[in-house]
Amino acid sequence: MNCVSICLRSSVLYLFLASACALSVDEMDGAESGLFKDTLRDEAITRLNELGKVSDANGYLERTFMSKASLRAGNLIRDWMEDAGLATWMDCMGNVHGRVEGLNSSAEALLIGSHLDTVVDAGIFDGSLGIIAAVSALKVLKSNGLLSKLKRPVEVIAFSDEEGVRFQSTFLGSAAIAGILPVSALQTSDKSGVTVEDALKENSIDIAEESLSQLKYDRHSVWGYVELHIEQGPVLEYVGFPIGVVKGIAGQTRLKVTVKGSQGHAGTVPMSLRQDPMAAAAELIVLLESLCKDPKAFLSYDGQCADSIVESLSSSLVCTVGEISTWPSASNVIPGQVTFTVDLRAIDDIGRQAVLYELSNRMYQICERRSVHCHIEHKHNANAVMCDPELSSQLKVAANASLKRMTGEIQDEVPVLMSGAGHDAMAMSHLTKVGMLFIRCRGGVSHSPTEHVSDDDVWAAGLTVLSFLETHM
Ligand SMILES: *[C@@H]1O[C@H](CO)[C@@H](O)[C@H](O)[C@H]1NC(C)=O
Ligand SMILES: *[C@@H]1O[C@H](CO)[C@@H](O)[C@H](O)[C@H]1NC(C)=O
Ligand SMILES: [Zn+2]
Repeated sequence: MNCVSICLRSSVLYLFLASACALSVDEMDGAESGLFKDTLRDEAITRLNELGKVSDANGYLERTFMSKASLRAGNLIRDWMEDAGLATWMDCMGNVHGRVEGLNSSAEALLIGSHLDTVVDAGIFDGSLGIIAAVSALKVLKSNGLLSKLKRPVEVIAFSDEEGVRFQSTFLGSAAIAGILPVSALQTSDKSGVTVEDALKENSIDIAEESLSQLKYDRHSVWGYVELHIEQGPVLEYVGFPIGVVKGIAGQTRLKVTVKGSQGHAGTVPMSLRQDPMAAAAELIVLLESLCKDPKAFLSYDGQCADSIVESLSSSLVCTVGEISTWPSASNVIPGQVTFTVDLRAIDDIGRQAVLYELSNRMYQICERRSVHCHIEHKHNANAVMCDPELSSQLKVAANASLKRMTGEIQDEVPVLMSGAGHDAMAMSHLTKVGMLFIRCRGGVSHSPTEHVSDDDVWAAGLTVLSFLETHM
């Protein structure tokens, strides 16, 4: 599979086309032209701001799993869902659902979702935009008397935990619905020792093994899952397009690297006699950067690993050391031990494994040469998730159609990109086919109060969901 190079090639192409895609919507007006500006833009923006004020913290946005603010946010979302003609409920993992049955309540349901929790000091669009765009689009159908014409049930789900701030365990909500949440997850505790089970109990939700397994959706009752989310990266802004289709979500490995040396006095141990784990860690980190910038130069294949994998790695591999700690951490002591994390992501799973193999070999070589002891632990591994090609092409047609509706112009090809960040769609892919749309955000900035989506891009998001729903009539 070699989709990354396709996206990259396409991005270059879009650069040439981008100038043709400036939206000129001001002169066009609302409902009569099928644009529903009042609902899909103005009201959606008001709701984003309102939801963005529902916080557990003073002065910044924070909503974690089953917190007071999360419950208030859930109730607000339920009100909006009911306003859009949906029947609503909260399930026993705190997910909020709104459903309309359409023409045939036993047909496979289309699920559309995103998360209602946030990081600490979050922006107001991450997660919320996907929920609000879907609810607004359904509200337009309701206003036009079309809800009952949907040929399958449509269910919007606001997931209770994607960011994993409270329990360090992402996807509690969507994993439960996809049936991949282990019962043991209920015993995970937060910083103050409260378990997931306790947090639910505090809100009069009794969750036991059976109720957890009852949360799992029957795969035969589901048609597919669609998620709209802000891009959280700079590519759409770079190519000048408000909306993009996601081809897949990168796989990820997290390592913990421990380097042990010989602790000593900074003044008395000669340089030639040191086994300094700090200097070794520095060399390991620079090695990581070099390898990830140019994997081709490091990976030597004997023909069994295809060029396409190396090429895919060249365009999708990203590696980060975000945390480093040292013992005893004093300015006049040669450290005895240094520990750092590695976050490594790529769209090609085999390629990621090859990089990990090469990386560990070279790391151990460096450690041996420096006479320090190294230990590399795998803390987390998640394979890449590919979006369903057919569903993706339907989303592409919908994005294309909505932009044409807004600009009145023939559109350039909607960009296709990879997601480097995890999303609920990853968990939902264990249940059903998934498709994702990305919405441009300013400067690619997310997980920050400066996160911003332009008013017209919020509109494009709602209109795209609407266009997509119209194909299910
Ligand atoms: C409703 O959907 C079910 C399940 O797909 C199907 O068996 C049934 O024929 C459908 N009914 C109508 C009236 O289309
Ligand atoms: C996008 O829409 C234009 C009309 O604006 C159409 O000519 C083109 O084929 C569409 N492309 C896709 C991928 O749907
Ligand atoms: Zn998110």
